Amino acid sequence: MDATTRKIEAARAALAYVEDGMRLGIGTGSTAEEFVRLLAEKVADGLSVTGVPTSERTARLCLDLGVKISSLDELPELDLAIDGADEIDPALNLIKGGGGALLREKIVATASKKLIVIADESKKVECLGAFPLPIEVNRFGLASTRLAIEAAAARLGLTGSIDLRSSRDEPFVTDGGHMILDASFGRIPDSRALSTALFAIPGVVEHGLFLGLTTIAIVAGEGGIETLRP
Ligand code: A5P
Repeated sequence: MDATTRKIEAARAALAYVEDGMRLGIGTGSTAEEFVRLLAEKVADGLSVTGVPTSERTARLCLDLGVKISSLDELPELDLAIDGADEIDPALNLIKGGGGALLREKIVATASKKLIVIADESKKVECLGAFPLPIEVNRFGLASTRLAIEAAAARLGLTGSIDLRSSRDEPFVTDGGHMILDASFGRIPDSRALSTALFAIPGVVEHGLFLGLTTIAIVAGEGGIETLRP
């Protein structure tokens, strides 16, 4: 089974948790897109759900495939959010934001009664941090914010490059109009402490540590589907 097939299998397993009439947060990234494709087939067969997408990209895919969408302004509370992840640790804490949608993803996950994470097994790690941590920052004062992040991380014993994300030689701009700094700290032994330290920096809008939000993770690997609980 290749990685794409595993993503599809994880997405298919998540469909079992979707019930008629649900208000559904819909994630961003290649695994979430596989979920949208499978969901669209169910919708064509008569399933009625309303999706709240976590990015403009996911919104476009939903609209193209006939999945009804709304917003958190219309539906401030959701039944279930389904999303991918860049890393999943044994407590089901995550790094997310590789696709740049971390702010909306965290808002949607927090507005949902449950968060189901879907992934192939390459995303499982013993300790978060091999994947560079996306930190969404305000454009104003970018250089100062980067220095403040560096200093805060160093106080926690974390060092490494902090790179402005770019796309086609331009700074990458999120759906919220912000920029992303990708922090290659390596192992993050105390993700709570790092989260608190990052939120204390005014230019930091959000970061990709999703701590204590996951209800279950559905991971597809060589041995089939694993359903993990924190
Ligand atoms: C999007 O911003 C991310 O949080 C994605 O959920 C994450 O990057 C997983 O993407 P893939 O499913 O493409 O690996």
